[in-house]
Amino acid sequence: MEKTFHITTFGCQMNEHDSEIMAGMLEARGLRRAPDRKSAQIEIINTCSVRDNADKRFFGTLGQLKRRKTQDPDFTVCVCGCMMQQQRVVDRIQEKYPWVDLVFGTNNLHRLPDLLDQVLTGHDKEIEIWQERSGIAEGLPAERMFRHKALVNITFGCNNFCTYCIVPYTRGREESRHPEEILKEIRQLAEDGVREVTLLGQNVNSYRGRFLDPATGEGVPGGGLDPGVCTFAQLIRLTAKIPGIERIRFMTSHPKDLSPALIQTFVDVPELCRNIHLPVQAGSDRILKRMNRHYDSGKYLRLVRDLRAAVPDITMSTDIIVGFPGETEEDLQATLDLVEKVGYDSAFTFLYSIRQGTPAAEYPDQVPDEVKHERFDRLVELVNRISAEKDAACEGKIYRILVDGPSKRDRKAMAGRTDGFKLVNFSVREEDLPEESPLRGRSPQEIADLLTGRFADVIITKGKTFSLEGRFLGLSEEA
Ligand code: SAH
Ligand code: SF4
Ligand code: F3S
Repeated sequence: MEKTFHITTFGCQMNEHDSEIMAGMLEARGLRRAPDRKSAQIEIINTCSVRDNADKRFFGTLGQLKRRKTQDPDFTVCVCGCMMQQQRVVDRIQEKYPWVDLVFGTNNLHRLPDLLDQVLTGHDKEIEIWQERSGIAEGLPAERMFRHKALVNITFGCNNFCTYCIVPYTRGREESRHPEEILKEIRQLAEDGVREVTLLGQNVNSYRGRFLDPATGEGVPGGGLDPGVCTFAQLIRLTAKIPGIERIRFMTSHPKDLSPALIQTFVDVPELCRNIHLPVQAGSDRILKRMNRHYDSGKYLRLVRDLRAAVPDITMSTDIIVGFPGETEEDLQATLDLVEKVGYDSAFTFLYSIRQGTPAAEYPDQVPDEVKHERFDRLVELVNRISAEKDAACEGKIYRILVDGPSKRDRKAMAGRTDGFKLVNFSVREEDLPEESPLRGRSPQEIADLLTGRFADVIITKGKTFSLEGRFLGLSEEA
């Protein structure tokens, strides 16, 4: 009987996509995915190192797995991801968790099937970490979480070295995929039923892909700096031409590299969703400088103004860190002011977390925990109040939703996202359906099967702080 595996993923979309690739590679080798950890014979933990609580959750999970491993020595435990790129973590695993069977990193993800084979046939443990990426592994299969939408890497690594951040150390230097490779992947995804792609990179704005064949890049508008090089704005335009791709999103956009050409792309390309995640991190110029972000609040607010001038209904989200070393009450006030000025649809707020090996970890003026928490609470209150206002303003409006499937909150409702990335939970009521609707008289399961992956028109009945509620009106016109 073939072995079954389960993957636990911590961290960002990049890790989520890495897990999809691991699942794809293992299924291609004949292994089967188990519905949960309990029933799997192989457990893979894909780790994140961005904040201390991610580290803690990983070691907590390992603690839980120990009991099972003791009872069942054939149970195989593999650990990978960003934490493994740090020697101190690998040392700790060897010392305290010697029963872990396989340890590998972000740079040799594609080696998983071979390494696992060695573990399963050799009955010995393997540790293989690559310090460098050594080129980009192309053509790896991926087992997507959704049939109708997909994550696509466009850059790997990061060169920005924000002083608080571990990512440049765990993911290495920035490297762009060739545009032809990206477009080939998206064409295949579209043929497989994908309608929405999210282009992924730590800073997609600094994407610079070299055309394998410079001739294929000809005639692409959007401000290429030199012939043969594809910019991010051009890549979006090329992606939008692929038949079947109806929505394009991207993550993450660094303010320092957001170009006028990208803003123009929002205007010209209807497939590009009217939404941007633009992490600000702080509103104080002094703190932004210490964070090594290469912009100040004035430049950030000008970008917001230009984006809104070009795309009045664009939705915006951000990341904010509270309690960065040296942050004063005045600095926090500058953050609160900026949040108020921008009026984000949503914001991810984080307590500054010391990451060993980063410059900010060495700064002497760390902010005490109680102060951090008190400031954090004030920021969250403001952010939530604004989100609630923005969501309330959606009430009574009709949105075109790409339906993801049954709602996680209420199995009788369905869920999907607006173009602006707002999560909508909506009901499908018999009395709202037209006479000839194919949804009449169907069970919730049949309705879910019919609607998932389709565009639906939904009227918003209630705006909540983190989601919208609505009622299904009908299927949208197909593009
Ligand atoms: N490349 C992306 C962010 C990746 S990490 C970008 O630059 O926007 C996601 C978020 O985690 C960051 O935007 C930041 O807000 C937060 N973060 C990173 N390091 C952190 C730390 N040491 N403490 C608290 N939050 C952190
Ligand atoms: Fe980290 Fe900054 Fe790179 Fe984002 S841009 S991954 S915050 S170093
Ligand atoms: Fe975490 Fe690595 Fe992403 S550290 S946030 S999983 S790049």
